Amino acid sequence: MEWINEKAKTLQQGAIRAMFDRANGMTGVISLGIGEPDMATPALVCDAAKEALDKGITHYTPNAGTLDFRKAIAQKSYLKELHYDPASEIIVTNGGMGALSLLFLVLLNDGDEILIQDPQWLNYVAQVAYCGGTAVRVPTDAAHNFEMQPETIEALITPKTKALMINTPNNPTGSVMSAETMEKIAQLAVKHDLLVISDDVYNTLLYEGAQAPSIAGFPGMRERTVIVNSFSKSYAMTGWRIGFVAGPAAIVDRMTKCQENFNACANAPGQYAGAIALDHPELCEQLRQIFERRRSILLEGLAGIEGIKSNDPKGAFYVFADISSFGLSSEEFCNRLLDEQKVVCIPGSAFGACGEGFIRIAYTCSDEDLHEAIARIKAFCAAL
Ligand SMILES: Cc1ncc(COP(=O)(O)O)c(C=O)c1O
Repeated sequence: MEWINEKAKTLQQGAIRAMFDRANGMTGVISLGIGEPDMATPALVCDAAKEALDKGITHYTPNAGTLDFRKAIAQKSYLKELHYDPASEIIVTNGGMGALSLLFLVLLNDGDEILIQDPQWLNYVAQVAYCGGTAVRVPTDAAHNFEMQPETIEALITPKTKALMINTPNNPTGSVMSAETMEKIAQLAVKHDLLVISDDVYNTLLYEGAQAPSIAGFPGMRERTVIVNSFSKSYAMTGWRIGFVAGPAAIVDRMTKCQENFNACANAPGQYAGAIALDHPELCEQLRQIFERRRSILLEGLAGIEGIKSNDPKGAFYVFADISSFGLSSEEFCNRLLDEQKVVCIPGSAFGACGEGFIRIAYTCSDEDLHEAIARIKAFCAAL
């Protein structure tokens, strides 16, 4: 008897995990590969979770999350001007990934097409494929700082296109979509009756005055936008698995039914602590300032390395650097960088064909390690 179904057999380890497996067992490795804040969750948030445990907040919550937490999300987060109804338009999920998986499970019929940027964080494509959809990649390039161009998107729309994913600030490029492009994309969505899924998980990490307004605020968009966000990157809470969706009540309702049947709810103490975290946006600002400093260190360091060209990453904690001048594939470059200098970066090709010739560098380590990693990358490039 074959126990595993055909779908599950197609699941593969992502290239990011594969790099970590290679690095495992080596000593003295500096990782610029990790897509999560390296610092501890702020003490105030941890104390709130301890308080929740002491109060006995250890049971199932409503499937959509506690109403208190949903109210806090509606009234205290960046969504407040959009006036979401906490009772019907918000659901709390197991991180952003939990939000995305519930969403694709309720949206996709076999063969439905979802437009997804190339390069882009790997999981969208994997989840869409698992749920029977087809990921249609929207090519982007360095000349446009990896911003999806409205004309390119429009040319890829077919009668089967159901939704467009946007992710700004972006993983892997750190690029932030301009307001003009966002407006044009919103107009396209209205014209072609598309749903827009806006993954905002990096939207507290913005630099040099960059802004990431919600696309739901553009005319005609609130009713066709599903916002995905989480506390992972903004409050250094990746392991807590607390995320949420704000969107049309009909979609949130089906996601809630799906959550009821698949995983009940997000963890209760985390929801309690999340509501308190929303009273303290200064905690996000403190994290942002740390990343802002490291970003400067990294961009300055890379500018001093012959052959490497950085993009213009105004958000998240990634630089997407052009290494094509060395004549190696991005995978060869990263494998050799790890073998020869013990630095982990992620090959751009892992994020789609348009990422070939680039590497993703995450500044999610201490300043000291970052300085050392830059010196090692410089030595590696000089030896090439
Ligand atoms: C673009 C993007 N969206 C969503 C997530 C999901 O994060 P989480 O499930 O921890 O909220 C990540 C994590 O790396 C990400 O990079």
